[in-house]
Amino acid sequence: NAIYRAGVLGRKPAVPTSFDQLERAAKRVMSPKAWAYVHGGAGLGGTMRANREAFDRWQIVPRVLRDVSSRDTGVELFGRSLPSPVLLAPVGAAELAHPGADVAIASAAAELGVPYIFSSQGCAPMEESAAAMGDSPRWYQLYWSTDDDLVDSFLARAEAIEADAVVVTLDTTMLGWRPEDLDLGSLPFAQGQGIAQYTSDPVFLRIVRERIAAAAESAPVEVTLGAVKSLLSMTKRYPGRFLDNIRSPEPRAAVETFLDIYSRPSLGWADIESLRERTSLPVLLKGVLHPDDARRAIDAGVGGLVVSNHGGRQVDGSISALDALVDIAEAVDGRIPLVLDSGIRSGADVFKAIALGASAVTLGRPHLYGFALGGRDGVRDVTANLLAEFDLTMGLSGLTSVAEIDRSALRRA
Ligand code: FNR
Repeated sequence: NAIYRAGVLGRKPAVPTSFDQLERAAKRVMSPKAWAYVHGGAGLGGTMRANREAFDRWQIVPRVLRDVSSRDTGVELFGRSLPSPVLLAPVGAAELAHPGADVAIASAAAELGVPYIFSSQGCAPMEESAAAMGDSPRWYQLYWSTDDDLVDSFLARAEAIEADAVVVTLDTTMLGWRPEDLDLGSLPFAQGQGIAQYTSDPVFLRIVRERIAAAAESAPVEVTLGAVKSLLSMTKRYPGRFLDNIRSPEPRAAVETFLDIYSRPSLGWADIESLRERTSLPVLLKGVLHPDDARRAIDAGVGGLVVSNHGGRQVDGSISALDALVDIAEAVDGRIPLVLDSGIRSGADVFKAIALGASAVTLGRPHLYGFALGGRDGVRDVTANLLAEFDLTMGLSGLTSVAEIDRSALRRA
């Protein structure tokens, strides 16, 4: 309503309300490297396209002459009342898009009461992001390290910052084949972006120190020009924090340790089952696309699933997230909440995902494009626009609450 009124008064919104314009405007302000990393998908981009095409295959069938003068977009998720069924997806290395990540994104989310899922590969320690959110809900996303002590340390920190849930991302045991990044010859982590959860972790720092000590024993220290350059750029990037944490040697060792241990490709169901003893927080598995995996996850005791193909960044030619949601909703049959992630670009998309069985959705690239354009307020505006469009779509379809949105509101095109 406020957005419309501003328009009537001739005020232009700070960020474009159309996704295409938003994306184009963001591209103009981002460096080629940031654009490649944020926008890029796996392989030929087929999964990214499939994510969008799936939404186009479903059409909303609005109803009329129902009193829609008062509406409520609120939902309850893991015992929390949320203003809408929308969360901000975890995004690593977001400071490539704009300085101040992840604290600025957290603060924008908190202004709207929208939960932000802190990435394992965030640019600020989760404690700093949480501090920017007051009592607003936050979740934590875990990449399962090869080092179990580090996993436990991350889980303990997530509990300490009062995260409502832990999301374990399973589709990124290895980084996908992403030609846009590969051709530029640069991935963010090489410069130290996206490792702040690690460099602020006592277990991680212990591992780095042990590795440095072991290396010093077995080989004389070799000072290369590259190592010196990387040390200098780290000092600039993390004034105080990084060097305080690491002390003396060696940011480079931290980056190398991170690359070696951040992910465990051998992860199995037994590890997921062990989470029940490791944390009291509800656990969601992110990246589940097959109904058999969804059933298996319920047996393993997880609290929810994030149906996602990582925004088309991992397996090219994979099933769209929305198509997977339809199959998984049938298999799960309401036993645990499903969160749809990948391809959400508008309020109408949120409506369709809810109608097809999602309890909530997460927003990835759109909020990062807002961040690139307008920093903290850009994130807030993009998200607020999407929430406003969702509320309108619901009302104009003849519905007044999220619980009323079901399959009967859609037809297959
Ligand atoms: C991501 N994503 C992601 N997921 C995750 O679990 N941990 C992470 O650190 C990241 N990092 C990340 C960085 C960037 C730049 C992007 C674009 C995405 C995936 C993200 O959580 C989400 O699954 C997708 O972005 C959803 O798809 P859309 O909304 O971008 O289409």
